[in-house]
Amino acid sequence: MSLQGKHIVLGITGSIAAYKSAVLTRLLVKRGAEVQIVITPAGKEFITPVTLSALSGRPVVSEFFAAGDGSWHSHVELGLWADLMVVAPATAASIGKMAGGIADNMLITTYLSMKAPVFVAPAMDLDMYRHVSTRRNIELLKGDGVQVISAVEGELASHLCGEGRMEEPENIVAAVERFFAGGNGLGKKRIVITAGPTFERIDPVRFIGNFSSGKMGFALAGECARRGAEVILITGPTALSAAHPGIRRVDVESAREMYDAALKVFPQADAAILSAAVADYRPERVCGKKIKRAGRESFTLSLVSNPDIAAALGKMKRPGQLTVGFALETEEEERNAIRKMEEKNLDCIVLNSLNDEGAGFGYDTNRVTLLSRSGERRSFPLKSKVDVARDIIDAVFDASRNSTACNETV
Ligand code: PMT
Repeated sequence: MSLQGKHIVLGITGSIAAYKSAVLTRLLVKRGAEVQIVITPAGKEFITPVTLSALSGRPVVSEFFAAGDGSWHSHVELGLWADLMVVAPATAASIGKMAGGIADNMLITTYLSMKAPVFVAPAMDLDMYRHVSTRRNIELLKGDGVQVISAVEGELASHLCGEGRMEEPENIVAAVERFFAGGNGLGKKRIVITAGPTFERIDPVRFIGNFSSGKMGFALAGECARRGAEVILITGPTALSAAHPGIRRVDVESAREMYDAALKVFPQADAAILSAAVADYRPERVCGKKIKRAGRESFTLSLVSNPDIAAALGKMKRPGQLTVGFALETEEEERNAIRKMEEKNLDCIVLNSLNDEGAGFGYDTNRVTLLSRSGERRSFPLKSKVDVARDIIDAVFDASRNSTACNETV
């Protein structure tokens, strides 16, 4: 594979693994990439800019201003120039700054200005790598759409053995090549995602709702956007924010608003992923004024059925369009999920069960089983919703390239 003409910003931070950045630079350049190195002040303690500029054929950028003539190094221009940014090695400190937006050096300002996708390859001691703070920051970065090339096990600078060693340069280059070859990319696909709960008004102060936080749907949106898709995220009420520029967010409140928004955009979409917990019923009439207790001991609310978004999209989809549903079940899980998949004409369905600890509403984790129309089944262990989103997108779109969703990985 070739990286001919690709513009890559290589960020280097202060880790002993910075010595491998020389090899990484060499490999990227050999494959035809133009490499612009941005190094943190700490990074220069581990490898010299002279080595790196000789290998990349470009002056290394480190400070905001050039020492000699005071000219400004534009992180904004770098953000526009790059086709990809790779931070390797990425220390715990730099990962934390990236996650928190602490732009106190040229590398982090470049990251914050970056218009292209970003990969990070962490490198640190094993205790730092598994520290809850590092894990949290890595999850934040993943949620922001950054592709994390996980550290591997091996001997570390401390001479301890364990996870924390930066992935080998050859494997980082392979990940970069896969990215440009579209191996895990979604090219220019347009994907509609529903997320969160719907609220069905009873009166001006009350509603029927559910416990969906939107985390699963937002993780899916981030994953699709990170792979280059244009995402239309139709979300019910949630406190979450969607940072990636590839995500167009449409806020709705009720099932009918979500239905209208989804039907409007689906004809131009390649796929719809329906992770929202949509209320099946709404009050027959919404009281204009707050309903008073008025001495009543009981109160009957008459409900009517809401439109089914998944079923409607399943009816209108044309060949080549995919619909992926979710099922949150409490009993006869697989049977119910398969029934829903068939009734709604879904290509596949993601089953999560409230009987699994850590799965379903509100958690940062989920445990899912993917079921497809052609009878395939694949179960995954409990993972963060960001990682679950990755598994779902891998399975659904790799499989759809082979024309039957969900089946390739089973
Ligand atoms: O938001 P989180 O807190 O992260 O939680 C994630 C989740 C548990 C909400 C999510 O993983 C999930 O399971 N979503 C589906 C919830 C559900 O119970 O769906 P359902 O069985 O009612 O519906 C089946 C499918 O039809 C779903 O894809 C649903 O979005 C869709 N549907 C349902 C009713 C309706 N009127 N319109 C629909 O599109």
